[in-house]
Amino acid sequence: MKLTLIECKLWDVNEEGESTYKRNCRTNCCIVLFPVLLCLIISVLQHFVNDQLKDVNKELSKPRIYIPPKYPPLLQVPKPQFRATQSDFIPFTDLPDESCKQANSCPATILVTGSNQTFAESLTGNMFMNVASLNFPNNLSTLGDLVMATDSPPSDAPPIGERLYMLQSKCKPNFSFSVPFRVGNVTFEQELKCLQGLLLWRSSSSLVNDELYKGYYQGNKETKTNEIAAAYDFLQSSNRSYSVNIWYNSTRLHRAEDPVSLRVPRSVNMASNAYLKLLKGFGVKMQFDFVRGMPKPESLIIRLDLASLLGELFFVWTLELLFPVILNNLVYEKQRKLRVMIKMHGLGDGPYLVITYTYFLLLSSLYVLCLVVFGSITGVSLFALNSYSVQFVFYFFYINLQIAFAFLVAANFSCVKAATVIGYIYVFASGLLGLYFFKDVITDASTSRIWVMLMEMFPAFSLYRGLYELLNYASRGNSFFTSASGLSGMQWKDLNDRENGMEDVLFLMLLEWLLLLLAVYYLNRATSVGDERRNGTLSFFSCFSKKHFEDSSKPIFQTQELKTSVEMQRSDVSQEREVVEQLLREPSTSYSIICDDLKKVYPGKDGNPDKFAVRGLSLALSRGECFGMLGPNGAGKTSLINMLIGFIRPTSGTAYIEGMDIRVDMNKIYTSIGVCPQHDLLWETLTGREHLLFYGRLKSLKGAALAEAVEESLKSVNLFYHGIADKQAGKYSGGMKRRLSVAISLIGDPQVVYMDEPSTGLDPASKKDLWKAVKQAKQDRAIILTTHSMEEAEELCDRVGIFVDGSLQCIGNTKELKARYGGSYVLTITTTSVQEEEIENLIRSLSPNVNTVYRIAGTQKFELPKQEVRISDVFGTMEYAKRRFSVLAWGLADTTLEDVFIKVAKDADAFTTPS
Ligand SMILES: *[C@@H]1O[C@H](CO)[C@@H](O)[C@H](O)[C@H]1NC(C)=O
Ligand SMILES: *[C@@H]1O[C@H](CO)[C@@H](O)[C@H](O)[C@H]1NC(C)=O
Repeated sequence: MKLTLIECKLWDVNEEGESTYKRNCRTNCCIVLFPVLLCLIISVLQHFVNDQLKDVNKELSKPRIYIPPKYPPLLQVPKPQFRATQSDFIPFTDLPDESCKQANSCPATILVTGSNQTFAESLTGNMFMNVASLNFPNNLSTLGDLVMATDSPPSDAPPIGERLYMLQSKCKPNFSFSVPFRVGNVTFEQELKCLQGLLLWRSSSSLVNDELYKGYYQGNKETKTNEIAAAYDFLQSSNRSYSVNIWYNSTRLHRAEDPVSLRVPRSVNMASNAYLKLLKGFGVKMQFDFVRGMPKPESLIIRLDLASLLGELFFVWTLELLFPVILNNLVYEKQRKLRVMIKMHGLGDGPYLVITYTYFLLLSSLYVLCLVVFGSITGVSLFALNSYSVQFVFYFFYINLQIAFAFLVAANFSCVKAATVIGYIYVFASGLLGLYFFKDVITDASTSRIWVMLMEMFPAFSLYRGLYELLNYASRGNSFFTSASGLSGMQWKDLNDRENGMEDVLFLMLLEWLLLLLAVYYLNRATSVGDERRNGTLSFFSCFSKKHFEDSSKPIFQTQELKTSVEMQRSDVSQEREVVEQLLREPSTSYSIICDDLKKVYPGKDGNPDKFAVRGLSLALSRGECFGMLGPNGAGKTSLINMLIGFIRPTSGTAYIEGMDIRVDMNKIYTSIGVCPQHDLLWETLTGREHLLFYGRLKSLKGAALAEAVEESLKSVNLFYHGIADKQAGKYSGGMKRRLSVAISLIGDPQVVYMDEPSTGLDPASKKDLWKAVKQAKQDRAIILTTHSMEEAEELCDRVGIFVDGSLQCIGNTKELKARYGGSYVLTITTTSVQEEEIENLIRSLSPNVNTVYRIAGTQKFELPKQEVRISDVFGTMEYAKRRFSVLAWGLADTTLEDVFIKVAKDADAFTTPS
């Protein structure tokens, strides 16, 4: 219940903004202005927050003495996957084997050189305490005894939660333990993992330089970097003098305030401590417990950046919001078959795609532009701090990808409601998935890049990743510490940053966009008009309500195919066939439509026999002729029309419209036909006039001619007055819609017009108007009209064909048909019921073949064969009867077309239905 309600809401909301060509301006403005509203809200809230913080900040910003906390001195070591191993570009074989990278157990390599190898090696032998055998932590007087290391980048915060190691000359596998860790007054338990420190001798400092350089800059950035933790050159050191050069990693040093003091001192101490031990024995040690910055004046400002607090999710949702809107628009046109209607009036696939795509691109661009501009003005850091050119490229790629993706998804939907609901679910779900699943994946350093890239193939994730990076950089730029060093948001050069996924994202989005465009193009060609597959097999989701899907061309369950032998060719029908054959031999320009033995067979499904919708129809219509197709429901009339307008492909045979073959020239044919489909295919938000203007333009009418044609046609179907033309078609009554459909089919002077039951649902007055319009229109064009109203057929059609079970039973003008099939007069007499018998005898005396149709309470109806009865005899008999009986009323009528129809249909049935 609730779901349907939500569905209806969504549906209603979107119902308002539908139509491709002149879309409701208001809705578009709303869509585009939505980000403005959003930014305004954020900025108002931000001001409010800043206001609240003002007093606090005033208090905080008074200068005070700040005493930095004590930090344990740490050694910087490379991350496990980057630690040095043997590789082809480094000539040394004493490095560990590459296999340790898989197990994340590579040692941290430290290079050593100097003038006296013996001395240097005995010195470095004292560098790490070999405590693996000891019983931790009891034997440890202080943490300063351990060489602690980390692979996290330096920061100002205490290393809580970071990966911490203790360097050992040998490690027990997976050996780790927890140590109490004090920061200020608080004590944390921190896990220390054992990390092997591998000390390797190199014979000269130039070799060391070479190895350090190659390891970092020549390796393949991703997998092959060979980073060395540190290097020592002990120069001329001996028992009497001590001098050392130390190499350290300074890559990240620009980031934090003064990290040199945090990460370099440990390596100095390691060497000095080892020297002391060498000289004085193990009892002496140079303990290094903490480092601490000097007291300094402190002024603190608390900043709360709402945009960063809202996080990626919020912006992901904001940007994805257009997806359901686009999807909805695309599916709407498909569901209502407007797409087909447009095509029938001459707008090909290519231009349609380009126009629609451009439209959505424009809409999306405006939307994003508004978002960025107003975001920047109102100071949302995401937009204001990052480089605009990076942002531009990123958003531009994304919206293109999103549109292409929407096209692809729309191809699988045929129902607006389903598409809208799924569209919104996609937006919400993909955002949440990004936050709760994908974010973990990207923040986890151990996920391989390939995996991440694979996931980023999903557009929502690539968007998430991009925004994540942008926000990341923006909040760095915004943070208290780094603004001092002049970093602000993401710049192009930051794309080289190894941790920055933006480069991948941009590349992936571009690639995917191009691939999707190709896919959309081919899908569109495959499902374009003229191919039955469009009706469903490709659609995974069909509509909740079947209302819009009545497809009269679909096979209807049918009785056995028995007719083959009873191919009773009636003379009129075979005559028509001869005319067609004649015309095919000697083409004549005065004929607009020539059907040459058109057949349509639907293959039987689920064991049912094939259904013959049209069995070999031959027909020739000259210009200025209106041909009426009569026939019971399911006789194949609509199938025939659908074939002629290229909706479905004939199984065999073909038709020529204005000399063009429907099998090959359909696109050209569309420019010269007009169609009034059985169900009105109209945009609900466009007015009648706009419909006509639109279709007029498709028929390449322009300027004054267009305006005039529209006015004419509005007048001709009686929609011109009382402002009806300027009301939205959604508000029209059924009759008005019908008349509008007829007007559409006639605009732009098409040579051939198909009207499928144009007058159904019209009141008599409008019907008359409509007929007038059609009569006027048929002067110089051929019209095929299907109808159930015999009155209409008689009034409008020059010739009528009765279509039963897929084939033409008879063809001719109405008079001929009546004469041929309704070979009798109908006589109705009302007398008192006692005299019924005598009256009947009297009438029978006129001819032995009189047929009594019915007899009810004194009223009797007879059929008198025309060949045997003369009208004067009938009148004579009635005069006589009036004198003898009390005749209350009587009447004599010629057969109507309706009688003919019923008779023909019955006869045909007698052949097809097994008795
Ligand atoms: C190198 O150092 C060792 C041990 O300290 C010492 O015995 C040796 O004399 C030194 N060699 C040179 C050439 O100084
Ligand atoms: C220095 O350390 C950082 C952080 O661990 C690392 O990313 C960088 O690659 C290292 N640079 C060199 C030259 O080893």
